[in-house]
Amino acid sequence: MKPTDLSRLSDELKQQTISELFDKDSMRAEAFSARSQSLSIDYSKNLISNNVLSAFQQQFDTLDLHSWIQRLFSGELINNTEQRAAHHTRLRDVPADPLIEQTLASCYQLCDDILSANKTGASGQRFTDVVNIGIGGSDLGPRLAADVLKNKQAGINAYFISNLDSAEINKTLAKLSPETTLFIVASKSFATEETLTNARHAQRWLASSSVGTGSDQHFIAITSNHNKAVDFGVATDCILPMWDWVGGRYSLWSCIGLSTMLCAGKQAFQQLLAGAHVMDQHFQQAPFTENLPTILAVLEIWYGNFMGARSHAVIPYCYALRKLPSYLQQLCMESNGKSVRRDGSPVLSDTNPIVWGTAGTDGQHSYHQLLHQGTQTVTVDFLLPLSAGDNCPIAHQKLVANCLAQSRVLMTGQSLADAEYRMRLDGYNEKDISTLAPHKVMHGNMPSTIISFDQLDAFTLGEILALYEHKTFVCSVFWDINPFDQWGVELGKRIGQQVDEAIQGKPEALADLDGSTLAMIKRYQQKNQR
Ligand code: F6P
Repeated sequence: MKPTDLSRLSDELKQQTISELFDKDSMRAEAFSARSQSLSIDYSKNLISNNVLSAFQQQFDTLDLHSWIQRLFSGELINNTEQRAAHHTRLRDVPADPLIEQTLASCYQLCDDILSANKTGASGQRFTDVVNIGIGGSDLGPRLAADVLKNKQAGINAYFISNLDSAEINKTLAKLSPETTLFIVASKSFATEETLTNARHAQRWLASSSVGTGSDQHFIAITSNHNKAVDFGVATDCILPMWDWVGGRYSLWSCIGLSTMLCAGKQAFQQLLAGAHVMDQHFQQAPFTENLPTILAVLEIWYGNFMGARSHAVIPYCYALRKLPSYLQQLCMESNGKSVRRDGSPVLSDTNPIVWGTAGTDGQHSYHQLLHQGTQTVTVDFLLPLSAGDNCPIAHQKLVANCLAQSRVLMTGQSLADAEYRMRLDGYNEKDISTLAPHKVMHGNMPSTIISFDQLDAFTLGEILALYEHKTFVCSVFWDINPFDQWGVELGKRIGQQVDEAIQGKPEALADLDGSTLAMIKRYQQKNQR
């Protein structure tokens, strides 16, 4: 099978609807479902068939997916443009690896010391709040994990600062007391402008308070650039390592998880690692058609490259997961938002779709209109906990009902005849029916996948995040791109510096800037004459 066979299959399937596939096969829901330890995916409401799965399986055999997976897990230098491994899975294989075990042990020790007040602020007071200063992978994973797992009984309050706009840090600091606030500067490179600017802001805030010269005691750094953290003023024993074989967007599992440990307790973090490790094993061992990451990747490629969808919505019907879409935007789009192959030649097809989404049911009152009646195909992942947990069971039942209803309606839509029939039942007159019914037509046939689980705990979150990591990897193998570099963000950083220098009036920085940028710089300078 070749991509041309997939094209032929897509032409065939486009002649049918998802609803028709259900009509033909009463066992479709079972046939197009798969499970891992705590996740189930039902992908039956996609325009997909066993022939499509077989074609993909053959294609992935040709691409030698199996050996790519082995190369990932064995720590080969598969990040070829940076000559690095992408060995984040090693971080969750804890007992098997002394380096990881030792590093985690020092992280846990620091966590214990902070929570037991063995390590305190300069005034000797216990830390009650931790502020993680980082951006991208040094922010999104910990922010999401803290949101899901924070637990007042097991830890302290956690806050996250990423934005260069000081409105964010000011808003957060206004709630905090310097004597009891600990800052984690999370930056693999310790060179990221946003993070260093915010960290210096925090340093000034502490220095101008009663903490004064003791502000060093309020900082921990997590970085692979030890010297820069020392230069910044962090005590050597408060610098936790990162390794070049862990990419920023895959780093939640490393010491970058310290804020998670501090607000959720280290047991929760251990469970998070355990869940991710179980997904790692599933990914390596489960056969193609039962392999959750592979199935999600197949759906992405199928719809993106063969069925014309360029947009993927992730909609958790689970408020605790509301930050998942932002996390996945970095994971998926920074990894696979590329147009060259591993050897530098152009990619021959579209690569990653736009990823977006918010927690349900809020989206039902905004963008679902476009999902139901817009002009483009959007693929949707719904994430759904089946137990209410600590939440109100009545509200949870309605949440479940809404999620299932949306998934169903995306598939079935509403024909003109159905719309007219309903309007007659509702007592409309024939004139109004003929005017209004066309506006109520919903094309349906919109694909959606339901990822369900019993309850959102640390273990399940670990499985969910590793699921999407591996899905991203499988897609990269299909497109033959390196998902572990991010050269596309570098130019913006360099030109950002140049424009900053141009604003400061450095003549050499002004050279080669375009008329629009120069005019805006001038307007800014006029407004901010010092
Ligand atoms: O924006 C690019 C990027 O390098 C991300 O990949 C990374 O997660 C983020 O910046 C933060 O980098 P660092 O941890 O080095 O501050």
